[in-house]
Order: sequence, then C-alpha cells, then structure tokens
Amino acid sequence: MNIHNKIKMLVIDHDEYLKSIKNIFDDIADMLTSTSGEESLVILENNKIDVIILNNITSDLDAIHILHYLKLNNDLSNIPIIVLNDNMNDDFVKKCLYAGATEFIRKPFVNSLLKNRVNRLLDYEELKKSLHHHISEEHNLIHENVKRSKILLKEMAAALSKTIDAKDRYTSGHSERVAEYSHMIASCAKLNKSDINKIYYMALLHDIGKIGVPSRIINSQSKLTPQEFNLIKSHTIIGASILQGIDIFPELAIGAHYHHERFDGKGYPQGLKGETIPVLARLIGVADAYDAMTSQRSYRNALAQDYVYDEIKKNLGRQFDPDFGSIMLDLIEEDKDYQLCESNSKEKLDQRTT
Ligand SMILES: [Fe+2]
Repeated sequence: MNIHNKIKMLVIDHDEYLKSIKNIFDDIADMLTSTSGEESLVILENNKIDVIILNNITSDLDAIHILHYLKLNNDLSNIPIIVLNDNMNDDFVKKCLYAGATEFIRKPFVNSLLKNRVNRLLDYEELKKSLHHHISEEHNLIHENVKRSKILLKEMAAALSKTIDAKDRYTSGHSERVAEYSHMIASCAKLNKSDINKIYYMALLHDIGKIGVPSRIINSQSKLTPQEFNLIKSHTIIGASILQGIDIFPELAIGAHYHHERFDGKGYPQGLKGETIPVLARLIGVADAYDAMTSQRSYRNALAQDYVYDEIKKNLGRQFDPDFGSIMLDLIEEDKDYQLCESNSKEKLDQRTT
C-alpha cells in the first residue's frame, strides 16, 4: 500500500462502532460510513472503494444481501470485504464466504487485529493488481511477438518462393499463383480454418526442392533424357528434406514431398494412390497442374482455358483428386474472362495471408 495515497474505506455498521473504526484507520484511510444497507449501495455506485468493513445486520439489509449485490456487480465484485459479527457460527461463515466475503472478525474486536487484517488484505490486493499488470504486459508482449513472427514467416516464405521461381525463367510467379489457387480451392472445399491458413504456405514452398536441381535442366528447351527427368523428379525429395527440419510446421514438408503424386497411383516420388496421398498435397497437385497448363513453358505457350478445363475434367480420379479437381472446374467456369491466372496481385496475396 502506498502510504502517501490514502485508501478509500466504506464502513457499514451501527453508529456505536463507526467512531472507533474511524479512529483506527484515520492515518491510512478516507472513510465513508453508513448505517444502512440501501444507502451503502448508493455510496458504492458513486465512489471507488478499496475495502469494505461490513457488519452483519444494518438497519435494513443483512450482510448476505449486500455481499450478493457486490458479487453480481462486475465493477464491485473485486472489493475486499471484512465481515464483522458477534456470532460466528459455521452456517453464517459458509453463507458469507459463498456470497463473497474475504475475512471475518468477531465482535468485540481488538483494534490492532482489525487494522492488521485490513493492512494484510490491502497488501494482498496490491500484489494481485501488480500480478495482473505483469501478466497483461507479458500477454501483450507475446501477442506482439506472435504478430511479428507471422509477418516474418510471410516475408521469408515469399522471399524463398521468389528464389525458387527465379531459377526457372519460364515460371516466374508460379509458386505465388499455386499458393493463391490452393487457398481458393481450400476455401471452396470448406476445409477447417487451420488447414486453409496452412495450405497457402505449403503451396508457396511446394517446389523449394528445385533449388537442388541444375538450372540447365530446369530451363532445358529440348526433350529431357530419363536421367534428367529423374533429376527433375528429385525436387520432391530434396524439398521434403529441406523443410522437414521445420518441426513447428510439418505440413510444409508434406506439400513439397507429395504434390506430384497422382490419384491413380502413377505419380511420384512414391506412387501413392487415392486417399493415401496426404489431403493437402492432393489439393496442391490440382492447383500446380492448373498453373503449369496456363503458364508459358520453355517448350510451349500457355494453353487455352477451355483446353485446360477439359484436361482437368478428363483426369478427375486419374491425375486429380475428384473433389478438389471439381472445385477447380467450378472456379474455371466462374472465370469467364480468364482472369484467374492473373489473380496473384500483391493486394490479394496480402488479404490471403493476414
Ligand atoms: Fe513441383
């Protein structure tokens, strides 16, 4: 308790006690007094009270009524209350405790004991306030750090995806577009919020393993030899090994590892089939194929939207998960102006990842 700031004390008791209680606390408290329960409730509404000394029986309300009133009032429920009574039977004490009393003192009381109890209560309240303040500061700090970590993750992932795409002169922006399409499919599929948030980053980094594949093979304009194609395929394994160290986000490695598996089991690297392929990897597979077909490659121009639609439809249940593939078809049908592949604007990316 700060001795320079007097506390505000409300004493609700019979006249005969008010004067002696006032004398006990004169040096530490500005005191408000009342002999009536109703009147004391009005005082409580209009003053910021630090501690209450309450006699069991006032002229109108008993202590239990007053305690109930305080407990039900959010602004008043934390005020410590010492109940004074000349009869401390178990039933009364239980009722008062249940109704919110903090301490009991039997009448007639010893002055020093009453003062000591009030001081202890005030110290306890001070400690509680400082603890709350400390917890609230820690909470704000954690909140701020989480916010900063999210921004860092977003910016690091974007920087990494640009590094991947920079290796392939024909697929600039591929990772961001696949992330965008994956997010759209996940939202339409009504996946849970956590998966919808994760899918963006999983898709953004799905091709990170290309960092380990020679640029001359990635950018080759001639037909790849089987050995060269095997090197391209190895980007899934390389990507998974790069990302598997991120324990806090294990799905990142899953997206990189399995996005080239096919629903019919003819994909790579493991030839997994149907629902044995992780669900979010199946989803990225659809978005990845859509972007691959609608982008210009080293060996061909971007394909027409109608052709892409037919290819996806033909391959539902073969290359593609039928549910996610169907959602992609719906998105293409809605995209009358063929704007979908232009949908990786900075503003949209920001909206998706906040
Ligand atoms: Fe890939």
